[in-house]
Amino acid sequence: MTESSQNPWQVCVIGAGPGGYVAAIRLAQRGMRVALIEKNAVGGVCLNWGCIPSKALIHAASILDGLRGADKMGILVDNPRVDFARLMGWKDGVIHKLQGGIRQLLGAHGVTLIEGEAEFLTPHRLQVRPAQGDVLTLDAENFLIATGSSPQALPGLAVDGQRMLDVRDLLSMTTLPASLAVIGGGVIGLEMAMAFSKLGAQVTVLEALEDILPDIDPDCRQILKRALKRRKISLKTGVRAGLSPDASQSGPLLTLSCLDDAGQTTSLAVEKALVAVGRSPNTASLGLARAGLATDERGFIPVDAQCRSRSAHIFAIGDVTRGPLLAHRASHEGLVAAAAIAGDGAASVDTRAMPAAVYTDPELASVGWTEAQARAAGREVRIGSFPLQASGRALTMDAGDGLVKLIADAQTDELLGAHIAGPHAADLIAEAALAIELGASAADVAMTVHAHPTLPESLMEAAEALHHQAIHLYQKP
Ligand code: FAD
Ligand code: NAI
Repeated sequence: MTESSQNPWQVCVIGAGPGGYVAAIRLAQRGMRVALIEKNAVGGVCLNWGCIPSKALIHAASILDGLRGADKMGILVDNPRVDFARLMGWKDGVIHKLQGGIRQLLGAHGVTLIEGEAEFLTPHRLQVRPAQGDVLTLDAENFLIATGSSPQALPGLAVDGQRMLDVRDLLSMTTLPASLAVIGGGVIGLEMAMAFSKLGAQVTVLEALEDILPDIDPDCRQILKRALKRRKISLKTGVRAGLSPDASQSGPLLTLSCLDDAGQTTSLAVEKALVAVGRSPNTASLGLARAGLATDERGFIPVDAQCRSRSAHIFAIGDVTRGPLLAHRASHEGLVAAAAIAGDGAASVDTRAMPAAVYTDPELASVGWTEAQARAAGREVRIGSFPLQASGRALTMDAGDGLVKLIADAQTDELLGAHIAGPHAADLIAEAALAIELGASAADVAMTVHAHPTLPESLMEAAEALHHQAIHLYQKP
């Protein structure tokens, strides 16, 4: 625990996902001696079974889809199709390259990577069990827990990795299923539904709630639902899936029972089913009690605005704590926790301008408050919307079904929220995030000169619309 002890680490970071490895690098930049412990793969869920592989697949599926629909632009490609095994090989190559990059960065910054599973023995001591070889013990002054999350199980529908899959299984397949049931119409479910439909699978989404994505702006949600329908992705809401009791599960197809809110049961036969009904924090095997810590009722580690747990020398960040399960939240918190550990008392997590994106087609992205949240917070609001049908750039991309909506305080004009449905929404939201971070007004966005023709012009037009002055949209006086 001190310079003279056997393993004198100043900080042990547990978990090398986008929370843990980012924190480890920042701690090393601050001159601290850091050990980073990872039981599985550097980069965590995000790099290996989450953000990166899913976006690689989504991108490739969009190329195929674009080729299929390009004849109206006079581009004629005979029978475009996918070699799925090759696609997955390319996706693995992207992961491999990025993993190498992270390992290099860790090495260059002097972070010591220790491979094995960590568990607390005492508040200042960890045991690390490697896949092979001897168990280590590590002592440290500070700990940062960044162990992430795992898919939630669905009672009665056990994932077997063969026909009943979790998202990691889905992203590791080597053959494309002809049909896919997606159980859970959340972020993972909808992104994968869209990608696999574009690749050629017949997709059905089963969602227990009455609607999908309840936290998304209702107009943006409608645009996505229209797109699902156009693609013939069957969306069944108010439906819970189970294994069909009377159907044989030994043939080539899996038969699911779908129980709707009215008590009616129908069956659905598919080649594969993806279970994506949420994720749970990885806290169970950390020995937290021996570190003097307890989780909340959902298994998350409670922390303050500096990511400090109730033990002052133990911090926790990312999916293992409450908040949106997003890679950039984990990284942001990693930077804040690192600053706090290095002695910066003012470091604090700021979620006001935390963007979120759903990589469907169209993409959805948001930052700040929705209209309902702003009103609930007691703000009088003004809304400015600009449809992408009126955007020259969107039409040159054959992608006019979308919109940009800005929400501002009616009194001060301060930008409170932005909601986008359309191509590159996940990239476009960065401008709104910066504006909110800087405390900009809608007028600031409206007066910023935007290059033409570009998609970001739609943010400028939405800001103008908020003041009833849009140029490319007629607004009744
Ligand atoms: P993780 O990335 O889960 O990393 C935790 C690491 O800790 C893992 O490597 C694990 O092996 C290790 N670990 C766990 N326990 C121990 C232990 N006891 N000892 C040692 N090591 C341990 N987010 C986005 O922002 N954008 C996206 O586009 C996006 N897409 C996603 C797509 C999918 C399919 C999924 C599943 C998730 C996606 N996410 C996305 C969410 C994102 O992946 C997570 O929010 C992010 O990975 C959380 O980072 P983390 O560092 O907290 O945890
Ligand atoms: P989720 O919470 O987004 O969605 C789960 C859905 O499953 C919910 O709509 C829920 O109502 C539904 N559900 C629950 N039980 C059900 C049942 N028995 N039958 C049918 N539906 C049921 O969780 P998901 O999709 O697993 O994703 C986990 C997290 O990963 C997300 O919260 C998100 O933060 C993160 N993620 C982020 C991405 C991004 O930023 N683009 C992409 C993918 C994941």
